[in-house]
Amino acid sequence: MTVARHSQLIVDQFTRWAKPFSELPIHAEADAMARTLRACALTPDSDVLDVACGPGILACAQAPLSRSVTGVDITPAMIEQAHARQAAAGLENMAWRVGDAIALPFESGSFDRVTTRYSFHHMPDPAATLAEMVRVCRSEGRIVVIDATPSPETQAAYDAMERLRDPSHTSALTLEQLREVGRAAGLREVVVDGYRLEAELSTLADLSDMPALVAMFDADIASGQNRIGVGAWRTRDGINFQFPVSIVAWERSDAAR
Ligand SMILES: C[S@@+](CC[C@H](N)C(=O)[O-])C[C@H]1O[C@@H](n2cnc3c(N)ncnc32)[C@H](O)[C@@H]1O
Repeated sequence: MTVARHSQLIVDQFTRWAKPFSELPIHAEADAMARTLRACALTPDSDVLDVACGPGILACAQAPLSRSVTGVDITPAMIEQAHARQAAAGLENMAWRVGDAIALPFESGSFDRVTTRYSFHHMPDPAATLAEMVRVCRSEGRIVVIDATPSPETQAAYDAMERLRDPSHTSALTLEQLREVGRAAGLREVVVDGYRLEAELSTLADLSDMPALVAMFDADIASGQNRIGVGAWRTRDGINFQFPVSIVAWERSDAAR
C-alpha cells in the first residue's frame, strides 16, 4: 500500500472514531497517565510536542506541568476534538496543528519533550517517525513513545486481530523491537515502564460489522491459549481484554551531561 493511501485510511478511520475515542475513559485512566507523565519528566520550563495527539488527552494532561504544549495530528477531526478538550479544561498554553508525523511542520530543535502515544502501530516506518521526533527535539531533550507491545510469540496474532478491528493498523512492535529502534537512532534509553490497559471490545469497534474479529476472540477464549496475547475473557456485556502497553523514554546521546 502506498504511504498516501495509508494516510487516507488513517484519516478515514480516525474521522469516524474521533468523538468516541475522545470520550472513552480508558484513554485517561489514572495509573496509565501517571506512569506516562512520570516518564515525560516535565518541568515548568518544558516546551512539549505530542505527535499524533488525537483528541489531546495526553497533551491536556501535560499542559499544567509544562510551559507550552503543541499537539499535531494528521486527522483534522481529532484536532477539532483537541480544541474542544482544551477549551473545556481552560488551558491556555497550548497550540494544535494538522500535520504528518513523518514530516513534522516544525523547525529542528524546537521542543524539550517530544512524545507520542498509541500511534507507532499506525506508522508504516516507526524508525523514520522516531528520527523525525528526534529532529525536532532539543539536544538535552527527551523523547517518549507509549504503545501496545505484544510479546514476540503473540505479535503475528495480535497484528491480525488489530487489522480486523482497524485497517489502518500496520504492526505493533514488541518491546525489544521498540527499544532497538531507539538504539539504532543513537538514543540513550532512560525509562522502560508499562501497564496493562483493560478495554471492552465493543467500545473500540462496530462489532455488528466484524464477525471475523469476534470469532478470533471467541476462539482464543474457548481454547484458553491466549494466542492474541491480550488475556481476553467474556463478561455478561461482551468481550474484555488487556492491551499490553510499554513506555520507553530516551535522551539524545549528543546532549551535554
Ligand atoms: C489511537 S489514536 C491515539 C491518539 C492519542 N495519541 C492518544 O493517545 O490519545 C492514533 C492517532 O494517530 C494519528 N496518526 C496516525 N498516523 C499519523 C501520522 N502519520 N501523522 C500524524 N498523526 C497520525 C491518528 O490520526 C490518531 O489521531
